[in-house]
Amino acid sequence: MIQEFNKDKIIVIDFGSQVTKLIARRIREEEIFCQILKVKDLKKKEILKNTRGIILSGGPATVTKKNFPKIPNHIFNSKIPILGICYGLQLIAKHFKGKIKLGKNKREFGKMIINKNLNSDLTKNFYKNNKSIVWMSHQDIVYKIPIGFKKIASTSSSPLTIIENKKKKIFGVQFHPEVTHTINGKKLIKNFIFSICKIKKNWKMGIEKKAIIKNIKKIVGNQKVICALSGGVDSSVTALLIQKAIKNNLKCIMVDTGLMRKNEFKDTYRIFKSTYKMNVKLINSSAIFLKRLKNVSNPEKKRKIIGNLFIKIFEKEARKIKNVKFLAQGTLYPDIIESKSATGSKTSKIKSHHNVGGLPKRMKLKLIEPLKDLFKDEVRNLGKSIGLTKKILHRHPFPGPGLAIRIIGKINFEKVKILQEADHIFINELINLNIYDKIWQAYAALLPVKTVGVMGDSRTYENLCLIRAVKSEDGMTADFYSFKKGVLEEISNKIINRVKGINRVVYDITSKPPGTIELE
Ligand code: XMP
Repeated sequence: MIQEFNKDKIIVIDFGSQVTKLIARRIREEEIFCQILKVKDLKKKEILKNTRGIILSGGPATVTKKNFPKIPNHIFNSKIPILGICYGLQLIAKHFKGKIKLGKNKREFGKMIINKNLNSDLTKNFYKNNKSIVWMSHQDIVYKIPIGFKKIASTSSSPLTIIENKKKKIFGVQFHPEVTHTINGKKLIKNFIFSICKIKKNWKMGIEKKAIIKNIKKIVGNQKVICALSGGVDSSVTALLIQKAIKNNLKCIMVDTGLMRKNEFKDTYRIFKSTYKMNVKLINSSAIFLKRLKNVSNPEKKRKIIGNLFIKIFEKEARKIKNVKFLAQGTLYPDIIESKSATGSKTSKIKSHHNVGGLPKRMKLKLIEPLKDLFKDEVRNLGKSIGLTKKILHRHPFPGPGLAIRIIGKINFEKVKILQEADHIFINELINLNIYDKIWQAYAALLPVKTVGVMGDSRTYENLCLIRAVKSEDGMTADFYSFKKGVLEEISNKIINRVKGINRVVYDITSKPPGTIELE
């Protein structure tokens, strides 16, 4: 689908850094079209068409070993401006005959101060008093300047922290301008894309929506599409876009697992049915989900059971609709990037999310993924521009397996009800306090322990409820939210007083990493 955006762009070559995605986000935030490519994509000649700048990402490889990932030589002669970040800088240095070594005792991790040596178009407004704070994560060090390059800035540990070859418009930075810890990183990226690549703003969701809808029409024609609608932002925007493109040829199925937040599924169903006049069928499968999950406490088992059962039910319903050719999925750009590894190696699996490629294999349907080039914030903007209600648009993310992974240990109907009530109270409090939108994700969970309490004159022995609220940009990393004094007490009181079955509330103060956002 991305080929349809026939416009100027910046490309990011991914060498496997954990933060490559952020580079593309920063550029998209500037309303510039940006694509992340793998090294092997560069074999296709047409890939450089419309490319106004190339960024080489960081990555775990080292140019000090024999085999290291590189880009074809002709790219360095293409006259397209290049910015190398971390490994990208080292790759540039290696190509132009600089010297790089493993900086055994000179590793740099975290915040560092860099000092200006020379002026550069790349570093306009980047320093304060000729210094700037940057975020580093590297072991290899460029210690001999590559041919044709100048030293622009340095730190006490790495003498060539920023280098440039002005004539060739090739730049390298040892730190990561894409992470927010680099204080003026955004300015440096802006300097590269606007002053050096001279690309003009060309990417705005309100405008792109027309191209996306046109593209769906072109791909689907008069065929039928089915879509599993969960009521989350991604599947909702997907369904609305497709409906705009092909009207009644879209059939949506909502499988109610019974593991959703209180009232959420029925409310969403009503919105799609009455506000958007969508062709949507609601399947109530809560009993079978609970039955299959009985006595299961292993988180991965829960995920597998729910995922497989969901597919089975969805397939059964889908088969009832005749002549369907396409399956719509709300896959996002980060899902696509994360499911492919830059180097071909398997990245370590923390939890099995099953958004990518889970559904269609057995169904032999063609996939249509209108959001697969977009980041979450872009999807929200797109949703807004096509009239998706605020209620859905700003809803916190919710995991596919739902409350099953928020009830730690074994699940039963009673626990689901207790948790739904507690979560409802917590979330409503956040809405009433006007802080819901400041928090990336918040939820209540039930821990598999009971504790003693006293209510009135009686002893209680009830469930322990954990509440969690995090701030995040994309769910990859997160910090726990710091509530103002008194808020947690208020929430705790309300939950304990109103929810029968809970007599103690705790707040989770773990960030990600080392924790994850969900508990299981
Ligand atoms: P973690 O817990 O891995 O979660 O820090 C990151 C984000 O992903 C959501 N999440 C899931 N979403 N299926 C999903 O669709 C899953 O199995 C799943 N597990 C976690 C989580 O809610 C958070 O937004």
